[in-house]
Order: sequence, then structure tokens, then C-alpha cells
Amino acid sequence: MSRIRNIVVLTGAGISAESGIATFRGPGGLWEGHRVEDVCTPEALARNPELVHRFYDLRRAALETVEPNAAHRALARLDRECPGELLIVTQNVDDLHERAGAARLLHMHGELQSALCGACGIRHGWTGALPPDMECPDCGSPALRPDIVFFGEMPYQMERIEAALAACDLFVSIGTSGAVYPAAGFVQLAEAYGAETLELNLERSAGSGWFGETRLGAAGVLVPAWVEAVLAEV
Ligand code: APR
Ligand code: ZN
Repeated sequence: MSRIRNIVVLTGAGISAESGIATFRGPGGLWEGHRVEDVCTPEALARNPELVHRFYDLRRAALETVEPNAAHRALARLDRECPGELLIVTQNVDDLHERAGAARLLHMHGELQSALCGACGIRHGWTGALPPDMECPDCGSPALRPDIVFFGEMPYQMERIEAALAACDLFVSIGTSGAVYPAAGFVQLAEAYGAETLELNLERSAGSGWFGETRLGAAGVLVPAWVEAVLAEV
């Protein structure tokens, strides 16, 4: 008896680790050399725009040197073949899910390859360097900034995420430490709505106690195996 699953997948930096993109809170983490409050807050942007713009310029440029890994490709396969509802909510700002072929995807913390106008709020695709005071192509204000949701700012598409969590029967978290809200609270929402919850992570996370099941290991191994099993069910 096939069982159509409505699935929400949350991904964090751990899914991109095997592609060579440093995570935030592991040894040698991305914030290494920078305190979060120096590069990922509105105050930091106002205080030292050159440092903040350069931090994201370097990360944007580094995208050219990395490739999606088996975990990204497995989620793209799930996207192609899953007959039920699927939403991949990524906290990551890299483009590896897209490059692997995922389509039912949203970036709740913004994207490196996008520039946000601080004056009119329009988001523009952006691949090169983004120095401070670049003029917005729409309103002309010298107010373009990295399109990254800073600490203290509202993540993107929260209503769409909450609606998907209410409708899903399976919530899967991949490669996230469960350190940052609201993403860290999605498992509790899903569980309250009656969904099954599964965590795939290298180590136990701050949220592990909320999951119905936690599997420990590398995303490049766990995610393809999980996708294979889910697709065999439907
Ligand atoms: N496979 C699976 N999980 C992994 C792997 C791997 N190869 N490598 C690391 N991990 C796990 C780590 O054990 C850790 O639990 O991925 C998690 C990464 O945690 P963080 O570095 O905290 O990254 P993340 O959870 O995505 O951070 C959330 O915080 O800094 C902000 O906005 C930023 O989106 C980010 C948010
Ligand atoms: Zn503008």
C-alpha cells in the first residue's frame, strides 16, 4: 500500500560540509576569525560596512570552488520523484541545493547570490563583489547590502514554512545544530501538528530530544539512504 508523504525538510550548514563549505559552530567554523556580532548583525553593517560586505563577497566568490554533494543530489531526486507535497527549507545561503536540481526550495536566511536594497526592499540576483553604497537598480538609492538575514531580523517566508509544517506528515532535519530560532523550533511545531520527526546529523544537536528518531552520521551517507527508503514507500 503506497503512502503519499507530505514532507518538510530543514537543512543547515552540515549538508554543505562535505562540499567543503565550513559550518558555523564546528572546529574551524565559519565564524572563526569573526565574532557573529561583527559580521551578521544590522549593527555590524552600520558600524563597519566594508568588513561585512567583504565577508560575504569572499563567501560568494567561494561558491565557484564547490560542488553539490550526494546529500544535495538525493534531495533533488526526492524533489523530482516525491508525489506528495515537499518543501526544502534551507538555512544555508549557498546555491548548492539549486545546483543539484532542487526546485521546491526556499532560503529562510537569504542567499549569497542576491543583493537586498535597504531602501526599497527589492532583492536582486547578484554574483560578483558587492561593495558598500552600490546603487539599487530599482530605486537608485546607494543602499544595496548582502541579502542575508542578520541576527535579530525576520527570516523569509515564515508563513509559508508554518503552513507547510502544519500540513506535513514527516519533518526531517539535516545538518543543523538546532542553535538558532525560529528554525530550531520547527521540530516542535511539526510534532505538535502530529508529524513524524527525523533528524539526520553528524552528532546529537541541541534539538535531538524533540525528534522521534535521530540518525548520526554524514549527510552524504544518511540522506541518499533515507531518500531511497522514502521513495520505495510511495
Ligand atoms: N553531515 C551531517 N551533519 C553535519 C556534517 C555532515 N557532514 N558536518 C557537520 N554537521 C552538523 C554539525 O554536527 C552541526 O550540528 O551540522 C551542524 C552545523 O551546525 P551549525 O554550524 O550551527 O550550522 P547551522 O545549524 O546551519 O546554523 C544555523 O546559524 O549562524 C547562523 O544563520 C546562520 O543559518 C545559520 C544558522
Ligand atoms: Zn532600492
